[in-house]
Amino acid sequence: MSVVGIIPAGGSGERLGADGPKAFAVLAGRPMLEWSLEALAASCDRVVVAVPAGFEAAPDRIRGGASRSESVRNALAAAPEATVVVVHDAARPLVTRELVARCLEELGEDEAAIAAAPVTDTVKEGDGGRVLRTLDRSRLWAVQTPQVFRADALRSALDAPAERLAAATDDASLVESAGGTVRLVEAPPENLKVTTPLDMRIAEAILESRC
Ligand code: CTP
Ligand code: MG
Repeated sequence: MSVVGIIPAGGSGERLGADGPKAFAVLAGRPMLEWSLEALAASCDRVVVAVPAGFEAAPDRIRGGASRSESVRNALAAAPEATVVVVHDAARPLVTRELVARCLEELGEDEAAIAAAPVTDTVKEGDGGRVLRTLDRSRLWAVQTPQVFRADALRSALDAPAERLAAATDDASLVESAGGTVRLVEAPPENLKVTTPLDMRIAEAILESRC
């Protein structure tokens, strides 16, 4: 078994509004990407990072694509030896080694095992400014990364037109559409995603409290 980590880090970080790409913004003393690299390296034989143009200089850095899923596809193409893949966004620097290991353990007979948190807000479906209905919260999960896949299932799910890849907000949804089964792995609440400057401050406070 060859376990390859893939970190999509090829976004521009528009909503963060930093000087450069979000994955390279300094967070608690190191580029944000490095927190995820460290957590994945503990369980992976190799980690391939999809980066924005101009950041490919280091080993195992490849150029990202126009969408997140295209970045994942480019990185996977650079890892033909992979039999199991751990996909994890650079934008979730609070991931722990334990969560990565747990997703790998839970893969079992399924095509994927993904980190997710039970939804705590009440969620309603809307149409314009009006509520259509209230969803049954007890069945809802907010999905995160890491997402662990059988490499063949992910390769064939990513073999799709650019528009379809651009519309997918995670990789597991592509595997689900292809009939794959996906296991939910409950993640700790602090595995948050850094999108805005406020998220950056919260992530920094948590990372500093861990040291
Ligand atoms: N990503 C990527 N390639 C892209 C777009 C996004 O590898 N073409 C990565 C980002 O670097 C990030 C993850 O996918 O680690 C989740 O994306 P998001 O949080 O939306 O990051 P950005 O696209 O960089 O941010 P924004 O949407 O605010 O520009
Ligand atoms: Mg984005």
